Amino acid sequence: MAKMWAGRTDGAVNVLADDFNSSIHFDSRMFEEDIKGSMAHAAMLGAQGIIEKDEADRLIEGLSSILSDLSSGALAFDMTAEDIHMFVEQVLTERLGDLGKKLHTARSRNDQVALDFRMYLRRALDEIRALTKKLCATVTEKAEEYADLIMPGYTHLQRAQPILFGHHLMAYAMMLLRDIDRLADCRRRMNVSPIGCCALAGTTYRTDRYFEAEKLGFDGICLNSLDGVSDRDFALEMLSALSVLMMHLSRFSEEIILWCSWEFKFVELSDSFTTGSSIMPQKKNPDMAELVRGKTGRVYGDLMALLTTMKGLPLAYNKDMQEDKEGVFDAIDTVTMCLKVFDGMVATMKANKENMLRAAQKGFINATDLADYLVKKGMPFRTAYKISGGLVAKCIRENTVLEELPLGAFRAESELFEESVYEAISLRTCVETRISEGGTSLASVKKQIEYAKNCLQMN
Ligand code: ARG
Repeated sequence: MAKMWAGRTDGAVNVLADDFNSSIHFDSRMFEEDIKGSMAHAAMLGAQGIIEKDEADRLIEGLSSILSDLSSGALAFDMTAEDIHMFVEQVLTERLGDLGKKLHTARSRNDQVALDFRMYLRRALDEIRALTKKLCATVTEKAEEYADLIMPGYTHLQRAQPILFGHHLMAYAMMLLRDIDRLADCRRRMNVSPIGCCALAGTTYRTDRYFEAEKLGFDGICLNSLDGVSDRDFALEMLSALSVLMMHLSRFSEEIILWCSWEFKFVELSDSFTTGSSIMPQKKNPDMAELVRGKTGRVYGDLMALLTTMKGLPLAYNKDMQEDKEGVFDAIDTVTMCLKVFDGMVATMKANKENMLRAAQKGFINATDLADYLVKKGMPFRTAYKISGGLVAKCIRENTVLEELPLGAFRAESELFEESVYEAISLRTCVETRISEGGTSLASVKKQIEYAKNCLQMN
């Protein structure tokens, strides 16, 4: 089929080359943005007197009929078209005759595709942000439900100090709050309009770029036409925000996977979010968490691919940039699915109070508090640290725990030890006395929960 751009060449492209060049099989998903962008463009052309007012109205009507026909399925995409932009213009011209050919006045596919892409990503970003907020609310609710369960806190995956499960969960809520914020920040730079930059240098027509930008919900316009058509920072920023979000989900997944193991048994996932094994009847596998962890690699890959595509491109548009879309669409689909599944998995997750407490009782995680007990009675921290370490070594030798040592054993190391030591090293005291801002005491966890809820309420 002869191309719309036939002129300089006869437009008869080799079949393979044509197929290779075509992007309609993936950019058709931007049809709504493409048509709305064209409607705003037609309105601007009419308002500026570049075409007749009545012509603009008929173009808009024609475009709106294409939009509803595509949405209802009455009109199918022509997969032999070069891309979504050419397809819409082709149908418009079929429907309106020569008038359809006026739409592309003072415009190029270069600014058109940049416009469509920004609009599509803006919508996807808003949806992903809403899903992230939902997940953050779910995690916060879980933290509230399990606010005061004692569990071991870890460093180097070695039991370190006792913490509350609510505190641990709120760490993830804080990460998600930053993700929500990062997406909003990314949207701010994304939401400027490239339409009117035309092919690369602007145009000789008296266009009104602000009129189009405002009609399409943008906060401003790209101020340099070369930059407007060749900038893909907004896609890269979104991919990096999504990569960080996935990194958070992946770390959370990793912990859930550990917590589900027989070695930990801190949590139990709902049957509806686990799978069985085809051979081992005892298995209940945390596949959802593993998949989220696995899919994180894909999203990082999408970011790396676009960074690499962009790195050597001279200004302004180059066809390489057609490669910008599939990776971003893949990341959007992946993150959307992961957020939805993760939300359901966390919402139905049950904590095992006894196992968490039992794990906290082993491993001398109150040894810091034992040292602090002496420090509060005037001993320098380093000296107290040594005595506490010596007592731990004694317990290990004698196969016992600090709480079980007789007072005499404590006093043999320091006269400062009194009966009150037992209260000081009880796990509940260890947790409850960590009252510093952001610490693990129940009061602090409750404060964090309030903070998260407030943030989530403020858009
Ligand atoms: N399908 C192209 C893309 O996705 C549209 C822009 C084409 N522009 C051009 N000068 N060939 O990037």
